[in-house]
Amino acid sequence: MRRVRYEKNGGPEVLFVEEAPVPEPGPGELLVRCEAIGVTLPAVRKVREGKEPAPLGGEVAGSVVSVGPGVTGFAVGDAVTGLPFTDGYAELTVLHETMASHVPAWASPVDAVALVRSGLVARGAYAAGRVGPGESVLVTAAASAVGGLALQYARNGGASRVVAAVSDTAKAAHVRGLGADEVVGYGDSTWGEPVDLVLDGVGGELLAPAVRALAPGGRLVAFSSGGGSIDAYELLVRSASATGFRMAAVARDQPERYTRWREEQWELFRTGRLRTAVHATIPLAEAARAHALIEARANLGKVVLTP
Ligand SMILES: NC(=O)c1ccc[n+]([C@@H]2O[C@H](COP(=O)([O-])OP(=O)(O)OC[C@H]3O[C@@H](n4cnc5c(N)ncnc54)[C@H](OP(=O)(O)O)[C@@H]3O)[C@@H](O)[C@H]2O)c1
Repeated sequence: MRRVRYEKNGGPEVLFVEEAPVPEPGPGELLVRCEAIGVTLPAVRKVREGKEPAPLGGEVAGSVVSVGPGVTGFAVGDAVTGLPFTDGYAELTVLHETMASHVPAWASPVDAVALVRSGLVARGAYAAGRVGPGESVLVTAAASAVGGLALQYARNGGASRVVAAVSDTAKAAHVRGLGADEVVGYGDSTWGEPVDLVLDGVGGELLAPAVRALAPGGRLVAFSSGGGSIDAYELLVRSASATGFRMAAVARDQPERYTRWREEQWELFRTGRLRTAVHATIPLAEAARAHALIEARANLGKVVLTP
């Protein structure tokens, strides 16, 4: 089977395709034939900025080819999605059953990778913001896979105003289509009227304007892999607060909540109240092109690889 790997950290050009043996599912594991693989900013960062090469995990959807000892919740032929610990940019990968979930028969593998993980990050960050009725919400990285779904959670949740912040206002039509009332560019001198909640998917130097966008008593939820620091004085003068949100912690520590959110999310998707945006589906062998797209900040929604 073919997989994509890298042997030294760097830009998209370090990725290469190779033949590899078919992995064996161990106890509690599923061997999955990948039909869609989601490319994420954290994976792109791992390749460029990691201290040493590590398996490209990603998020995959496909069908179960075989199951390891002790697996009870899945059978050969099941449509599944999940996060592999090992090589995920591959025709075949191994998922631990605790990291896998079923895909409804009416949904496609591309739907699954565009919706499940990104949507649960958006859902969790939105919930962490404890938004009240009629409050306003601003989302940064609003055109990313997570950001676009966060806009919709805010819209569906009854926000009085939904503001999308993007690096390039050429993304305006896209984010308006997902429910934004207003669009601001990161470099704009003002981000408009202050908001009650900021969901930040960028971090770094953008945290300063993001905190300044908060109304008195506002909350900022940091969900990015971008790091950065927050000036406590800027929080103090607004009686504002900041918190972080990490989806993996919910999946690990609150599995029942995670499962409930996931089921609710599929229902929102089935009934058209939540939409995914897929920027491009790119052949697995061209994974470097997918990474370059994300590094260039050019994507409107999810970038998907197909083996
Ligand atoms: N907390 C969690 O559990 C969790 C889980 C997964 C992902 N995330 C985070 O959610 C954010 C969005 O992830 P995603 O998978 O939805 O991204 P994605 O679909 O791959 O989109 C990437 C987009 O993010 C924006 N971005 C922000 N900082 C960037 C940077 N330093 N380099 C390139 N693009 C950057 C860009 O839009 P603009 O140019 O318009 O900013 C870019 O188009 C990321 O920060 C990611 O780390 C968090």
